[in-house]
Amino acid sequence: MQLFLDSSNPQEILAAREWGVIDGVTTNPSLIAKAGTEMKAALRAVLEASPGPVFCQVIGWKEVEPLKSQARWLSAFSNRIIVKIPMSMAGITAVRQLKRENLKIRLAVTAVSTVAQAFLAAKAGADIVALFNGPLDLEQDEPVRIVAPVRAIFDRSGFTTKILSAGRFPRSFGEYAADGTDMITMRMEFLKPLFEHSFTDKRMQGFLSDWTKAYGDKTWPAGKRPVANRKMP
Ligand code: E4P
Repeated sequence: MQLFLDSSNPQEILAAREWGVIDGVTTNPSLIAKAGTEMKAALRAVLEASPGPVFCQVIGWKEVEPLKSQARWLSAFSNRIIVKIPMSMAGITAVRQLKRENLKIRLAVTAVSTVAQAFLAAKAGADIVALFNGPLDLEQDEPVRIVAPVRAIFDRSGFTTKILSAGRFPRSFGEYAADGTDMITMRMEFLKPLFEHSFTDKRMQGFLSDWTKAYGDKTWPAGKRPVANRKMP
């Protein structure tokens, strides 16, 4: 399963990249607008900071041709870009036509809110469906469990389309993973709490206090850095 950061902030992306567990970056028009810089410069900065693929969304959702022409431009801008096409009748039509003209273009259908929409996106040939399960979870009282039925339909129909979930809470992270999502994306404010748990902290305090009673502030000795890869004679 892959983990993405939902961000357009290069400093934030570089900070998350240091952890070594981020596969790439997802953006959307709201996030790029938040960057507050010229749009191509904003996208370039995200690409430079990201360790892998970058999702970037075309603007609009009602007319096929503008969606297609922006998708071609974004795809040519960098081979690391996965173009997000909005979920709509025009969006699905655009996906179908773009895939017919160039199978290599990587397309994600975004703002997918139901199982039926995920099916339509996969049927049209989308590489990825970006489920809006997290944002929906925030709006509804009942948890939105759409990953499992989407997984079942994709597997039964032989679709190779991957499932991207938008995570919002540590709890939903486990649910999406168990239900079969291929990727999860989270904004920094939702990602950071994944590192923490009160029980983890409690045990670390316990380990430290037992150790300190016996050895004070000593730690194990520092090891030597490995010598850079030497060629075998
Ligand atoms: C995911 O790919 C999206 O960029 C993101 O989760 C959208 O969520 P929002 O509409 O709550 O910003």
